[in-house]
Amino acid sequence: MALRLDYSNMLISPGGVDAAVLSVAASQFSAAQRRFEERRKSGSVGFVDLPADKRLLEQATRYAATARRKYDDVVILGIGGSALGPIALRTALRPSGWNMLSDTARDGYPRLHVLDNVDPETIAALLDRVPLARTLFIVTSKSGGTAETMAQFLIVHERLLGEGLDVARHFVFVTDPKAGALRPLAQRLGVTALDIPANIGGRFSILTPVGTLPAALIGIDVKALLAGAEAMAVRCATPELMKNPAGVYAVLQWLADTRLKKSIAVFMPYADSLRDFAAWFVQLWAESLGKLRPDGTSVGSTPIAALGATDQHAQVQLFMEGPADKTVTFVAVEKRSTDVVIPKGFSDVTELGYLGGHSLGELIDIEQRATAGALARRGRPNMTIRLEKVDSSHVGELMIFLELATAYAGELYGIDAFNQPGVELGKQFAYALLGRPGADAAKAEWDALPKSDPRWSI
Ligand code: PA5
Repeated sequence: MALRLDYSNMLISPGGVDAAVLSVAASQFSAAQRRFEERRKSGSVGFVDLPADKRLLEQATRYAATARRKYDDVVILGIGGSALGPIALRTALRPSGWNMLSDTARDGYPRLHVLDNVDPETIAALLDRVPLARTLFIVTSKSGGTAETMAQFLIVHERLLGEGLDVARHFVFVTDPKAGALRPLAQRLGVTALDIPANIGGRFSILTPVGTLPAALIGIDVKALLAGAEAMAVRCATPELMKNPAGVYAVLQWLADTRLKKSIAVFMPYADSLRDFAAWFVQLWAESLGKLRPDGTSVGSTPIAALGATDQHAQVQLFMEGPADKTVTFVAVEKRSTDVVIPKGFSDVTELGYLGGHSLGELIDIEQRATAGALARRGRPNMTIRLEKVDSSHVGELMIFLELATAYAGELYGIDAFNQPGVELGKQFAYALLGRPGADAAKAEWDALPKSDPRWSI
Protein backbone atom coordinates (compact mmCIF):
# COMPACT_ATOMS: atom_id res chain seq x y z
CA MET A 1 0.00 0.00 0.00
CA ALA A 2 1.23 3.46 -0.89
CA LEU A 3 2.34 6.00 1.74
CA ARG A 4 -0.59 7.99 3.17
CA LEU A 5 -0.47 11.43 4.74
CA ASP A 6 -3.20 11.93 7.33
CA TYR A 7 -3.37 15.67 7.96
CA SER A 8 -6.73 15.86 9.75
CA ASN A 9 -5.02 17.06 12.93
CA MET A 10 -3.40 19.97 11.06
CA LEU A 11 -6.85 21.40 10.41
CA ILE A 12 -7.97 21.45 14.03
CA SER A 13 -9.69 24.47 15.45
CA PRO A 14 -8.43 26.31 17.38
CA GLY A 15 -4.71 26.05 16.73
CA GLY A 16 -4.54 24.55 13.27
CA VAL A 17 -4.60 25.66 9.66
CA ASP A 18 -7.98 26.86 8.46
CA ALA A 19 -9.29 24.56 5.72
CA ALA A 20 -10.38 27.62 3.73
CA VAL A 21 -6.82 29.02 3.91
CA LEU A 22 -5.50 25.68 2.69
CA SER A 23 -7.82 25.72 -0.26
CA VAL A 24 -6.81 29.31 -1.15
CA ALA A 25 -3.17 28.20 -1.00
CA ALA A 26 -3.87 25.65 -3.75
CA SER A 27 -3.22 28.21 -6.46
CA GLN A 28 0.01 29.34 -4.79
CA PHE A 29 1.07 25.71 -4.71
CA SER A 30 0.25 25.22 -8.41
CA ALA A 31 2.49 28.16 -9.27
CA ALA A 32 5.24 26.84 -6.96
CA GLN A 33 5.01 23.34 -8.42
CA ARG A 34 5.24 24.75 -11.96
CA ARG A 35 8.31 26.81 -11.06
CA PHE A 36 9.89 23.69 -9.63
CA GLU A 37 9.02 21.69 -12.75
CA GLU A 38 10.64 24.39 -14.89
CA ARG A 39 13.85 24.10 -12.86
CA ARG A 40 13.69 20.37 -13.29
CA LYS A 41 13.07 20.54 -17.04
CA SER A 42 15.88 23.06 -17.48
CA GLY A 43 18.18 20.45 -15.93
CA SER A 44 19.26 22.59 -13.00
CA VAL A 45 17.61 20.29 -10.42
CA GLY A 46 17.83 16.56 -10.99
CA PHE A 47 16.80 14.55 -7.93
CA VAL A 48 13.30 13.68 -9.19
CA ASP A 49 14.79 12.00 -12.23
CA LEU A 50 17.11 9.74 -10.25
CA PRO A 51 14.68 6.82 -9.74
CA ALA A 52 14.47 6.36 -13.51
CA ASP A 53 18.22 6.67 -14.07
CA LYS A 54 19.14 3.06 -14.82
CA ARG A 55 22.70 3.93 -15.80
CA LEU A 56 23.42 5.39 -12.40
CA LEU A 57 21.83 2.45 -10.61
CA GLU A 58 23.91 0.10 -12.74
CA GLN A 59 27.12 1.87 -11.65
CA ALA A 60 26.33 1.09 -8.02
CA THR A 61 25.02 -2.45 -8.45
CA ARG A 62 27.84 -3.49 -10.78
CA TYR A 63 30.48 -2.24 -8.38
CA ALA A 64 28.71 -3.91 -5.44
CA ALA A 65 28.57 -7.22 -7.31
CA THR A 66 32.33 -7.15 -7.93
CA ALA A 67 32.94 -6.34 -4.25
CA ARG A 68 30.76 -9.18 -2.90
CA ARG A 69 32.51 -11.19 -0.18
CA LYS A 70 35.77 -9.26 -0.63
CA TYR A 71 35.25 -6.96 2.36
CA ASP A 72 34.05 -7.38 5.95
CA ASP A 73 33.78 -3.68 6.62
CA VAL A 74 32.80 -0.69 4.51
CA VAL A 75 33.62 2.77 5.82
CA ILE A 76 32.14 5.93 4.33
CA LEU A 77 34.39 8.97 4.48
CA GLY A 78 32.11 11.97 4.07
CA ILE A 79 29.98 14.43 5.99
CA GLY A 80 26.51 16.01 5.93
CA GLY A 81 24.49 15.05 2.87
CA SER A 82 27.17 12.54 1.93
CA ALA A 83 26.79 10.64 5.20
CA LEU A 84 23.34 10.98 6.74
CA GLY A 85 21.46 9.16 3.97
CA PRO A 86 23.58 6.00 4.09
CA ILE A 87 23.26 5.91 7.89
CA ALA A 88 19.48 6.23 7.57
CA LEU A 89 19.33 3.45 4.98
CA ARG A 90 21.42 1.06 7.07
CA THR A 91 19.33 1.60 10.18
CA ALA A 92 16.02 1.40 8.32
CA LEU A 93 16.69 -1.46 5.96
CA ARG A 94 19.12 -3.84 7.65
CA PRO A 95 18.33 -5.89 10.73
CA SER A 96 18.68 -4.12 14.06
CA GLY A 97 22.27 -3.97 15.31
CA TRP A 98 23.66 -4.81 11.85
CA ASN A 99 27.28 -4.02 12.66
CA MET A 100 27.18 -6.30 15.69
CA LEU A 101 25.82 -9.34 13.86
CA SER A 102 28.01 -12.29 12.90
CA ASP A 103 29.17 -12.76 9.29
CA THR A 104 26.65 -15.56 8.94
CA ALA A 105 23.78 -13.45 10.22
CA ARG A 106 24.84 -10.74 7.77
CA ASP A 107 24.95 -13.35 4.99
CA GLY A 108 28.51 -12.31 4.25
CA TYR A 109 27.56 -8.70 3.60
CA PRO A 110 29.91 -6.23 5.27
CA ARG A 111 29.35 -3.98 8.25
CA LEU A 112 28.82 -0.32 7.35
CA HIS A 113 30.46 2.52 9.27
CA VAL A 114 29.95 6.19 8.40
CA LEU A 115 32.31 8.78 9.82
CA ASP A 116 30.28 12.00 9.31
CA ASN A 117 32.79 13.92 11.43
CA VAL A 118 36.44 14.57 12.10
CA ASP A 119 36.49 13.70 15.76
CA PRO A 120 39.95 12.16 16.20
CA GLU A 121 38.78 9.78 18.93
CA THR A 122 36.15 8.20 16.69
CA ILE A 123 38.39 7.91 13.65
CA ALA A 124 41.37 6.55 15.56
CA ALA A 125 39.16 3.97 17.28
CA LEU A 126 37.51 2.87 14.04
CA LEU A 127 40.78 2.52 12.17
CA ASP A 128 42.18 0.44 15.00
CA ARG A 129 39.09 -1.75 15.00
CA VAL A 130 38.54 -2.61 11.34
CA PRO A 131 40.86 -5.08 9.62
CA LEU A 132 42.22 -2.80 6.89
CA ALA A 133 43.03 -5.66 4.51
CA ARG A 134 39.31 -6.53 4.41
CA THR A 135 37.95 -2.96 4.44
CA LEU A 136 36.60 -0.83 1.61
CA PHE A 137 36.60 2.96 2.05
CA ILE A 138 34.03 4.95 0.08
CA VAL A 139 35.07 8.58 -0.21
CA THR A 140 31.88 10.53 -0.87
CA SER A 141 31.99 14.19 -1.73
CA LYS A 142 29.93 16.02 -4.34
CA SER A 143 32.25 19.00 -4.39
CA GLY A 144 35.26 16.74 -4.15
CA GLY A 145 37.01 19.12 -1.78
CA THR A 146 35.23 19.27 1.59
CA ALA A 147 37.88 19.81 4.27
CA GLU A 148 36.57 17.15 6.68
CA THR A 149 36.31 14.50 4.00
CA MET A 150 39.69 15.32 2.50
CA ALA A 151 41.27 15.06 5.96
CA GLN A 152 39.62 11.67 6.51
CA PHE A 153 40.91 10.56 3.10
CA LEU A 154 44.49 11.67 3.78
CA ILE A 155 44.53 9.76 7.07
CA VAL A 156 43.15 6.54 5.59
CA HIS A 157 45.36 6.81 2.50
CA GLU A 158 48.47 7.01 4.64
CA ARG A 159 47.30 4.12 6.82
CA LEU A 160 46.72 1.91 3.80
CA LEU A 161 50.15 2.72 2.39
CA GLY A 162 51.64 2.06 5.81
CA GLU A 163 50.12 -1.42 5.78
CA GLY A 164 51.40 -2.04 2.26
CA LEU A 165 47.86 -2.25 0.85
CA ASP A 166 46.80 -1.41 -2.69
CA VAL A 167 44.84 1.86 -2.47
CA ALA A 168 42.99 1.18 -5.73
CA ARG A 169 41.50 -1.93 -4.15
CA HIS A 170 40.54 -0.26 -0.89
CA PHE A 171 39.07 3.02 -2.11
CA VAL A 172 36.10 3.89 -4.27
CA PHE A 173 35.13 7.52 -4.83
CA VAL A 174 31.62 8.92 -5.27
CA THR A 175 31.77 12.44 -6.65
CA ASP A 176 30.82 14.94 -9.34
CA PRO A 177 31.45 13.58 -12.85
CA LYS A 178 33.88 16.42 -13.61
CA ALA A 179 34.35 19.00 -10.88
CA GLY A 180 36.47 18.83 -7.73
CA ALA A 181 39.69 17.24 -6.57
CA LEU A 182 38.45 13.64 -6.26
CA ARG A 183 37.99 13.02 -10.01
CA PRO A 184 41.60 13.69 -11.04
CA LEU A 185 42.75 11.98 -7.84
CA ALA A 186 40.81 8.86 -8.84
CA GLN A 187 42.67 8.78 -12.14
CA ARG A 188 46.00 9.39 -10.49
CA LEU A 189 45.47 6.54 -8.02
CA GLY A 190 43.61 4.17 -10.34
CA VAL A 191 40.58 4.28 -8.06
CA THR A 192 37.07 3.63 -9.42
CA ALA A 193 34.87 6.74 -9.24
CA LEU A 194 31.08 6.68 -9.41
CA ASP A 195 28.95 9.68 -10.28
CA ILE A 196 26.88 12.21 -8.41
CA PRO A 197 25.26 14.04 -11.33
CA ALA A 198 26.18 17.71 -11.56
CA ASN A 199 22.60 18.83 -10.84
CA ILE A 200 22.34 16.96 -7.51
CA GLY A 201 23.49 18.46 -4.21
CA GLY A 202 24.55 16.53 -1.11
CA ARG A 203 21.28 16.39 0.79
CA PHE A 204 19.32 15.43 -2.34
CA SER A 205 21.81 12.74 -3.35
CA ILE A 206 20.54 9.68 -1.48
CA LEU A 207 19.24 8.01 -4.66
CA THR A 208 22.60 8.39 -6.44
CA PRO A 209 25.56 6.10 -5.64
CA VAL A 210 25.92 8.20 -2.45
CA GLY A 211 23.15 6.00 -1.09
CA THR A 212 22.77 3.20 -3.61
CA LEU A 213 26.42 2.08 -3.50
CA PRO A 214 26.67 1.49 0.27
CA ALA A 215 23.11 0.17 0.26
CA ALA A 216 23.88 -2.38 -2.47
CA LEU A 217 27.15 -3.32 -0.76
CA ILE A 218 25.29 -4.30 2.42
CA GLY A 219 22.56 -6.17 0.58
CA ILE A 220 19.71 -3.64 0.50
CA ASP A 221 17.31 -3.99 -2.41
CA VAL A 222 18.19 -0.77 -4.21
CA LYS A 223 15.93 -1.50 -7.18
CA ALA A 224 12.92 -1.56 -4.86
CA LEU A 225 14.16 1.61 -3.17
CA LEU A 226 14.19 3.42 -6.51
CA ALA A 227 10.89 1.87 -7.62
CA GLY A 228 9.21 3.16 -4.45
CA ALA A 229 10.70 6.60 -5.06
CA GLU A 230 9.55 6.57 -8.66
CA ALA A 231 5.98 5.71 -7.69
CA MET A 232 5.90 8.68 -5.32
CA ALA A 233 7.49 11.00 -7.91
CA VAL A 234 4.73 10.01 -10.35
CA ARG A 235 2.04 10.67 -7.70
CA CYS A 236 3.49 14.10 -7.11
CA ALA A 237 3.81 15.11 -10.76
CA THR A 238 0.71 17.29 -10.56
CA PRO A 239 0.20 20.96 -9.75
CA GLU A 240 -3.20 20.08 -8.25
CA LEU A 241 -2.57 20.46 -4.54
CA MET A 242 -5.10 17.98 -3.22
CA LYS A 243 -3.68 15.22 -5.42
CA ASN A 244 -0.04 15.89 -4.55
CA PRO A 245 0.90 14.48 -1.10
CA ALA A 246 4.29 16.19 -0.95
CA GLY A 247 2.55 19.40 -1.98
CA VAL A 248 0.03 19.11 0.85
CA TYR A 249 2.83 18.48 3.34
CA ALA A 250 4.84 21.47 2.09
CA VAL A 251 1.87 23.83 2.01
CA LEU A 252 0.71 22.87 5.50
CA GLN A 253 4.17 23.36 6.97
CA TRP A 254 4.59 26.65 5.14
CA LEU A 255 1.17 27.95 6.24
CA ALA A 256 1.74 26.79 9.81
CA ASP A 257 5.07 28.66 9.89
CA THR A 258 4.14 31.83 8.06
CA ARG A 259 0.51 32.26 9.21
CA LEU A 260 0.45 30.59 12.62
CA LYS A 261 4.05 31.20 13.74
CA LYS A 262 4.66 27.47 14.11
CA SER A 263 8.35 27.87 13.32
CA ILE A 264 9.45 24.46 14.64
CA ALA A 265 8.79 21.28 12.67
CA VAL A 266 9.13 18.14 14.79
CA PHE A 267 9.67 14.87 12.92
CA MET A 268 8.81 11.87 15.08
CA PRO A 269 8.82 8.33 13.71
CA TYR A 270 7.46 5.55 15.92
CA ALA A 271 10.06 2.97 14.92
CA ASP A 272 13.67 2.58 16.00
CA SER A 273 14.49 1.66 12.41
CA LEU A 274 13.59 5.24 11.40
CA ARG A 275 15.54 6.98 14.16
CA ASP A 276 18.41 7.91 11.82
CA PHE A 277 15.93 8.75 9.08
CA ALA A 278 14.79 11.64 11.27
CA ALA A 279 18.37 12.97 11.37
CA TRP A 280 18.51 12.75 7.57
CA PHE A 281 15.25 14.72 7.32
CA VAL A 282 16.45 17.36 9.78
CA GLN A 283 19.47 18.13 7.59
CA LEU A 284 17.38 18.14 4.42
CA TRP A 285 14.81 20.58 5.80
CA ALA A 286 17.26 22.79 7.72
CA GLU A 287 19.96 23.27 5.10
CA SER A 288 17.45 23.64 2.28
CA LEU A 289 14.98 26.08 3.82
CA GLY A 290 16.85 28.15 6.40
CA LYS A 291 17.67 31.01 4.04
CA LEU A 292 17.74 34.71 3.38
CA ARG A 293 15.20 35.78 0.80
CA PRO A 294 16.26 38.27 -1.87
CA ASP A 295 14.44 41.01 0.12
CA GLY A 296 16.67 40.29 3.15
CA THR A 297 14.09 38.48 5.33
CA SER A 298 15.09 35.23 6.99
CA VAL A 299 12.80 32.24 6.46
CA GLY A 300 12.58 28.56 7.32
CA SER A 301 11.14 26.46 10.10
CA THR A 302 13.50 24.68 12.49
CA PRO A 303 13.32 20.88 12.27
CA ILE A 304 13.66 18.78 15.40
CA ALA A 305 14.12 15.02 15.47
CA ALA A 306 12.18 12.99 18.00
CA LEU A 307 11.48 9.29 18.43
CA GLY A 308 8.27 7.65 19.57
CA ALA A 309 7.57 6.28 22.07
CA THR A 310 10.92 7.25 23.68
CA ASP A 311 10.38 11.00 23.42
CA GLN A 312 7.00 10.76 25.11
CA HIS A 313 9.23 10.61 28.16
CA ALA A 314 11.50 13.44 27.07
CA GLN A 315 10.25 16.05 24.58
CA VAL A 316 6.47 15.53 24.38
CA GLN A 317 5.81 17.55 27.54
CA LEU A 318 7.32 20.52 25.69
CA PHE A 319 5.32 19.81 22.53
CA MET A 320 2.12 19.62 24.57
CA GLU A 321 2.42 22.56 26.94
CA GLY A 322 5.47 24.57 25.86
CA PRO A 323 5.27 27.44 23.37
CA ALA A 324 2.64 26.75 20.69
CA ASP A 325 5.25 27.18 17.97
CA LYS A 326 5.45 23.61 16.64
CA THR A 327 3.96 21.18 14.20
CA VAL A 328 4.59 17.49 14.80
CA THR A 329 4.91 14.98 11.97
CA PHE A 330 4.51 11.41 13.15
CA VAL A 331 5.57 8.43 11.07
CA ALA A 332 3.46 5.39 11.90
CA VAL A 333 4.30 1.90 10.68
CA GLU A 334 1.44 -0.49 10.07
CA LYS A 335 3.18 -3.86 9.75
CA ARG A 336 6.40 -4.62 11.55
CA SER A 337 8.73 -7.46 10.55
CA THR A 338 8.44 -8.89 14.06
CA ASP A 339 6.05 -8.44 16.92
CA VAL A 340 6.37 -9.52 20.52
CA VAL A 341 3.38 -10.50 22.62
CA ILE A 342 3.35 -9.12 26.13
CA PRO A 343 2.81 -12.10 28.44
CA LYS A 344 -0.15 -12.17 30.75
CA GLY A 345 0.96 -11.99 34.32
CA PHE A 346 0.46 -10.22 37.60
CA SER A 347 -3.17 -9.60 36.68
CA ASP A 348 -3.78 -8.41 40.20
CA VAL A 349 -1.34 -5.49 39.73
CA THR A 350 -3.13 -2.59 38.03
CA GLU A 351 0.01 -1.25 36.31
CA LEU A 352 0.80 -4.63 34.71
CA GLY A 353 -2.46 -6.54 34.37
CA TYR A 354 -3.97 -4.58 31.45
CA LEU A 355 -0.86 -5.05 29.27
CA GLY A 356 -0.91 -8.84 29.08
CA GLY A 357 -2.14 -10.22 25.75
CA HIS A 358 -1.41 -7.03 23.80
CA SER A 359 1.71 -6.90 21.65
CA LEU A 360 4.55 -4.37 21.60
CA GLY A 361 3.55 -3.44 18.02
CA GLU A 362 0.07 -2.66 19.29
CA LEU A 363 1.44 -0.71 22.23
CA ILE A 364 3.71 1.51 20.15
CA ASP A 365 0.98 2.09 17.57
CA ILE A 366 -1.63 2.97 20.19
CA GLU A 367 0.84 5.29 21.89
CA GLN A 368 1.37 7.14 18.61
CA ARG A 369 -2.36 7.56 18.07
CA ALA A 370 -2.88 8.60 21.67
CA THR A 371 -0.11 11.23 21.47
CA ALA A 372 -1.45 12.60 18.17
CA GLY A 373 -4.94 12.81 19.66
CA ALA A 374 -3.70 14.42 22.86
CA LEU A 375 -1.78 17.07 20.91
CA ALA A 376 -4.83 17.80 18.78
CA ARG A 377 -6.99 18.05 21.90
CA ARG A 378 -4.60 20.74 23.20
CA GLY A 379 -4.74 22.66 19.90
CA ARG A 380 -1.31 21.47 18.75
CA PRO A 381 -1.42 20.67 15.02
CA ASN A 382 0.13 17.43 13.86
CA MET A 383 0.03 15.01 10.96
CA THR A 384 0.82 11.35 10.48
CA ILE A 385 2.66 9.75 7.61
CA ARG A 386 1.47 6.15 7.45
CA LEU A 387 3.86 3.56 6.05
CA GLU A 388 2.69 0.04 5.48
CA LYS A 389 6.14 -1.31 6.32
CA VAL A 390 9.73 -0.18 6.68
CA ASP A 391 11.08 -1.83 3.55
CA SER A 392 13.09 -0.58 0.57
CA SER A 393 10.11 0.43 -1.48
CA HIS A 394 8.36 2.39 1.28
CA VAL A 395 11.59 4.03 2.42
CA GLY A 396 12.22 5.13 -1.20
CA GLU A 397 8.72 6.58 -1.29
CA LEU A 398 9.22 8.41 1.99
CA MET A 399 12.59 9.81 0.97
CA ILE A 400 11.45 11.38 -2.27
CA PHE A 401 8.19 12.52 -0.65
CA LEU A 402 10.22 14.55 1.84
CA GLU A 403 12.68 15.76 -0.80
CA LEU A 404 9.81 16.98 -2.97
CA ALA A 405 8.07 18.58 0.00
CA THR A 406 11.32 20.40 0.81
CA ALA A 407 11.72 21.57 -2.78
CA TYR A 408 8.11 22.80 -2.93
CA ALA A 409 8.48 24.55 0.42
CA GLY A 410 11.55 26.31 -1.01
CA GLU A 411 9.45 27.63 -3.88
CA LEU A 412 6.68 28.72 -1.49
CA TYR A 413 9.14 30.59 0.71
CA GLY A 414 10.69 32.16 -2.39
CA ILE A 415 14.21 30.88 -1.75
CA ASP A 416 16.65 28.51 -3.45
CA ALA A 417 16.37 25.20 -1.58
CA PHE A 418 19.42 23.78 -3.34
CA ASN A 419 22.24 26.03 -2.18
CA GLN A 420 23.79 26.69 1.23
CA PRO A 421 25.47 30.12 1.13
CA GLY A 422 25.17 30.44 4.89
CA VAL A 423 27.89 27.87 5.57
CA GLU A 424 30.43 29.61 3.34
CA LEU A 425 31.76 32.23 5.76
CA GLY A 426 32.56 29.65 8.45
CA LYS A 427 34.35 27.53 5.84
CA GLN A 428 36.39 30.53 4.68
CA PHE A 429 37.40 31.35 8.26
CA ALA A 430 38.45 27.73 8.80
CA TYR A 431 40.51 27.83 5.57
CA ALA A 432 42.13 31.05 6.75
CA LEU A 433 43.02 29.52 10.12
CA LEU A 434 44.39 26.38 8.50
CA GLY A 435 46.48 28.37 6.01
CA ARG A 436 44.73 27.27 2.81
CA PRO A 437 46.01 29.32 -0.14
CA GLY A 438 43.58 31.96 -1.42
CA ALA A 439 41.99 32.64 1.97
CA ASP A 440 43.67 36.01 2.52
CA ALA A 441 40.44 38.03 2.44
CA ALA A 442 38.83 35.70 4.99
CA LYS A 443 41.97 35.94 7.15
CA ALA A 444 41.75 39.75 7.12
CA GLU A 445 38.04 39.57 8.01
CA TRP A 446 38.79 37.10 10.81
CA ASP A 447 41.58 39.27 12.20
CA ALA A 448 39.22 42.26 12.29
CA LEU A 449 36.63 40.39 14.40
CA PRO A 450 36.33 41.27 18.10
CA LYS A 451 38.27 38.67 20.07
CA SER A 452 37.13 36.69 23.06
CA ASP A 453 37.40 38.92 26.14
CA PRO A 454 38.61 37.19 29.35
CA ARG A 455 36.28 39.45 31.37
CA TRP A 456 33.31 37.74 29.77
CA SER A 457 34.40 34.19 30.38
CA ILE A 458 33.56 32.37 33.62
O1 PA5 B 1 23.69 18.84 1.72
C1 PA5 B 1 24.72 19.41 1.40
O2 PA5 B 1 24.88 19.95 0.30
C2 PA5 B 1 25.88 19.44 2.36
O3 PA5 B 1 25.49 19.00 3.63
C3 PA5 B 1 26.99 18.57 1.84
O4 PA5 B 1 26.54 17.26 1.68
C4 PA5 B 1 28.21 18.58 2.76
O5 PA5 B 1 28.64 19.89 2.97
C5 PA5 B 1 29.33 17.76 2.17
O6 PA5 B 1 29.63 18.26 0.91
P1 PA5 B 1 30.35 17.40 -0.19
O7 PA5 B 1 29.45 16.28 -0.56
O8 PA5 B 1 30.58 18.34 -1.31
O9 PA5 B 1 31.62 16.92 0.41
